[in-house]
Amino acid sequence: MPGQNSQPDRPKVVAIVPAAGRGERLGSPVPKALVEVRDVSLLARAVSGLLDSGVVDAVVIAAPHDYYDEFVRVLAPFGGRCEVVVGGHDRSSSVRLALDSVPPGAYDVVLVHDAARAFAPGEVVRAVVNAVHGGAPATIPVLPVTDTVKVVDAAGVVTATQDRGVLRAVQTPQGFADAVIRAAHAAGFDAATDDAGLVEQLGENVSTVPGHPDAMKITTAFDLAIAEAVLAPKEEA
Ligand code: C5P
Repeated sequence: MPGQNSQPDRPKVVAIVPAAGRGERLGSPVPKALVEVRDVSLLARAVSGLLDSGVVDAVVIAAPHDYYDEFVRVLAPFGGRCEVVVGGHDRSSSVRLALDSVPPGAYDVVLVHDAARAFAPGEVVRAVVNAVHGGAPATIPVLPVTDTVKVVDAAGVVTATQDRGVLRAVQTPQGFADAVIRAAHAAGFDAATDDAGLVEQLGENVSTVPGHPDAMKITTAFDLAIAEAVLAPKEEA
């Protein structure tokens, strides 16, 4: 895969975007990544955000098998910096399949990004890359938690109240040293809801950088309305 890295001290960076899910909570007939906000798909917005950050050389996207051709069509304007692979049965296997298409050692930093966080600002992408380039095995963007969080049992009865001060809401892109993300995915751990979770099971440190409200995950119709009314106009201003 081609890299476009002319600056001597800049790491080579590949971003993986697992987008092979259905996004059923959004209630759309097409996969969530193809849902459009002001005529531009979440997928195209997420990929252009990564490439426009100035620190990402190439992007590999995992597509649902029955939408592979459509993903290739949507990503054609990005040319040779994008590759589409067919995703797997869950998020982790989609990441693994995308990772398999990237030769080990070809890139210094591997980002894993969610197409649903289509408005993640370039400053977050750069902060994550810089942290891994600076020696962190894994780094994730986080925000403080503003709600009080409770643990409940199967009957919905509260069993514990978490200390909000030590909780963080996790965003993407998450960043990893190439060898670390490969080891985490090769270890055969139970599927995690994020890649940092696999790296934690490996026993490696996962550090944090500040996230951003605009990197919110578009999951529901309400989130999509926020994107239409607030995020897209800001980006297009
Ligand atoms: O379900 P959740 O929102 O956590 O999914 C996170 C991401 O994983 C989504 O962007 C979805 O498209 C992706 N995914 C995938 N392959 C699957 C299932 C989900 O790439 N088989």
